[in-house]
Amino acid sequence: MERRRLGRTALEVTPLGFGGSEIGYEGVSQGVATRLLNAALDAGLNVVDTAECYADSETLIGRAVSGRRREFHLFTKVGHADGWGRDDWRPAPILKSIERSLERLRTDALDLVQLHSCSEGVLKKGDAIAALETARARGLTRYIGYSGDGAAARYAVESGRFDTLQISVSVADQEALDLVLPVARERGMGVIAKRPVANVAWRSRSRPPASAYHRTYWERLRALEYGFLAAPLDEAVATALRFTLSVPGVHTAIVGTTKPERWKENAASLRAGRLPPAVFDCIRARWREIAEPSWDGQV
Ligand SMILES: NC(=O)c1ccc[n+]([C@@H]2O[C@H](COP(=O)([O-])OP(=O)(O)OC[C@H]3O[C@@H](n4cnc5c(N)ncnc54)[C@H](OP(=O)(O)O)[C@@H]3O)[C@@H](O)[C@H]2O)c1
Repeated sequence: MERRRLGRTALEVTPLGFGGSEIGYEGVSQGVATRLLNAALDAGLNVVDTAECYADSETLIGRAVSGRRREFHLFTKVGHADGWGRDDWRPAPILKSIERSLERLRTDALDLVQLHSCSEGVLKKGDAIAALETARARGLTRYIGYSGDGAAARYAVESGRFDTLQISVSVADQEALDLVLPVARERGMGVIAKRPVANVAWRSRSRPPASAYHRTYWERLRALEYGFLAAPLDEAVATALRFTLSVPGVHTAIVGTTKPERWKENAASLRAGRLPPAVFDCIRARWREIAEPSWDGQV
């Protein structure tokens, strides 16, 4: 698989990465997680992203592939050690959370620790960033990053204190392309695209309930009516993924799944490389025509 240098870090990453939220939130068994992660590594993938609050995700990953630790770059996040929605940005709990992640992931050091979608106010205060800098100085992580969207992501980039940015980029989420990615490129930041296939939200035939994670993307895609979404599912997913990986400045796209066979499928679809410029431009033009001002980057 192709490798891309993750901004000014020394990491050479595969464009297809593993997003670790689904295995945690969907409660997959250790057996399935082990098959899934090994299948991903066997498919050539070398990026594994998780977080402190994705239920058992870190533990599942540690048990599944810590024996193959040299084959992949390992990223996690901090700020919600007691679960999503119960955030804590004080330095001591952040450092404690990193120590816990190391234990769960069965490793001595992480490649990247990211602040997990804190507000711009928290970033401006500075001590959460300082906690990550301490972790890096202590050798607990090689690099530090911010994971989030909108004005906070832009502030994170402009602060110059992070090595990487993880941000939503997909056919249904293009705010970052104008607001954040041009500055991130100028600054030489590594960029990790989250939610890169827009949760394949168009799979749902009927409108998902208001509480559903993929509801916003489902509604946007309904309005966008991209022609390629009418293709068979595998082809449409391939176009969506290739779109994200054709965005200038994006280095890797972390796709979530609970199904071991996905990795081969998604890796195979990337062999075709970047989207032809005409197809890419058509998706961008449609977004510019239809997207409403309220269509911001989804955390
Ligand atoms: N604030 C943050 O930091 C933040 C927020 C959100 C996400 N993230 C990160 O981004 C990662 C990815 O986000 P995500 O999982 O929400 O979104 P995603 O990768 O855009 O979508 C995942 C969905 O796509 C489906 N899928 C993947 N490949 C497919 C294929 N070839 N054909 C059909 N369906 C396919 C999966 O279903 P199946 O299970 O059926 O394969 C899954 O439901 C997360 O795991 C997490 O690491 C970070």
